[in-house]
Amino acid sequence: MNRRFRQRSRGHLHNGRKSTAGLRLKGLAVKKGCMNQWIEKAALAVGLFVLGGQAAWSADTTPALQLQHWQTQAGQAGDAARGQVFFNASHGGRWSCASCHGPHPTGEGKHATTGRTIAPLAPAFNARALTDEAKVNKWFKRNCSDVLARECSASEKADVLAYLIGLRPTGVRP
Ligand code: HEC
Repeated sequence: MNRRFRQRSRGHLHNGRKSTAGLRLKGLAVKKGCMNQWIEKAALAVGLFVLGGQAAWSADTTPALQLQHWQTQAGQAGDAARGQVFFNASHGGRWSCASCHGPHPTGEGKHATTGRTIAPLAPAFNARALTDEAKVNKWFKRNCSDVLARECSASEKADVLAYLIGLRPTGVRP
């Protein structure tokens, strides 16, 4: 189709060299053709972007990097035992973390209100857990405000992460 278009343009050039109107028209036609191609490409790019967005998971971090990040913020190492207590404790509200994620976050959780199944939080049991920074931040924010009526502190996050990362298939903690 492109070749045919070019041949037609060349034809115009030979036949209508003297006619400025013809040349102007040709110029317009060429511009329009390019524009259409550009629009097609842009639409394709947008389509791919939307498709990619639907996966809603970008593996841009690792559980270890997340732990490191919050340990640095807290200025102290995450404590798995403290994280386990924090995870199962009630903090004055209706829910604990375990209300939705279960007392053993090595298995699937069940949302306390919607009943929706939640994938295991412990990375050794779910390769996707704690690998998408925006997702981890979003859920820490939402879940902590549900359970503690405030954001979790950096050391609370480091403790929970140390606890979750420490959960291994062979035992509760290494
Ligand atoms: C009301 C239910 C509910 C409670 C309570 C809750 N969570 Fe969640 N949490 C969720 C849901 C739903 C998700 C998203 C799961 C998904 O989309 O894979 C999630 C995701 C997360 C994630 C991100 C997991 C990932 O895949 O990277 C972390 C971390 C997390 N929760 C920690 C906590 C902690 C810590 C607490 C307690 C302070 C808590 N949650 C309490 C429902 C809850």
